[in-house]
Amino acid sequence: MVKNTLNVGKIEEGFVLDHIQAGKSMEIYKYLHLDKLDCCVAIIKNAKSSKMQKKDIMKIECPIDFIDFDILGFIDHNITINIIKDSEVVAKKRLQLPKKITNVIRCKNPRCITSIEQGLDHVFVLTDEENEIYRCQYCEEKHR
Ligand code: CTP
Ligand code: ZN
Repeated sequence: MVKNTLNVGKIEEGFVLDHIQAGKSMEIYKYLHLDKLDCCVAIIKNAKSSKMQKKDIMKIECPIDFIDFDILGFIDHNITINIIKDSEVVAKKRLQLPKKITNVIRCKNPRCITSIEQGLDHVFVLTDEENEIYRCQYCEEKHR
């Protein structure tokens, strides 16, 4: 078994995000708006993993109904969300690609109505699940 050299203690209540693709944890920090939450967060980058070689791990100590993780399905749906209560893992949640994402990414088409008008929601819709393609709801510009 590969052993990590850096250890962070167990948490009492909150979430452990495991199997994050190495290097993605700062993006997740940003999308979850963790900078605005007054809770204890540990980010471990490039932890050794037998399954993935390298991975990131995040530990968030906070009340467990506090965070909406749906957006993580868009960033990386292979992440495991461990829900911790009384220092035990009470559930492991797998993620799915969200069907719709609102106000997370912006349309890059300069002629799109969202580029011209202020105050519109930026909505992308999953149009091809297999290839993970999202398109702008207004102009159908592809995101990736
Ligand atoms: N963990 C934690 N605090 C706790 C309980 C668990 O920080 N009170 C962390 C563990 O360190 C681990 C993750 O939550 O990184 C998942 O815990 P566990 O399911 O016990 O570990 P594994 O069996 O290694 O998970 P998996 O099979 O999903 O790889
Ligand atoms: Zn558009």
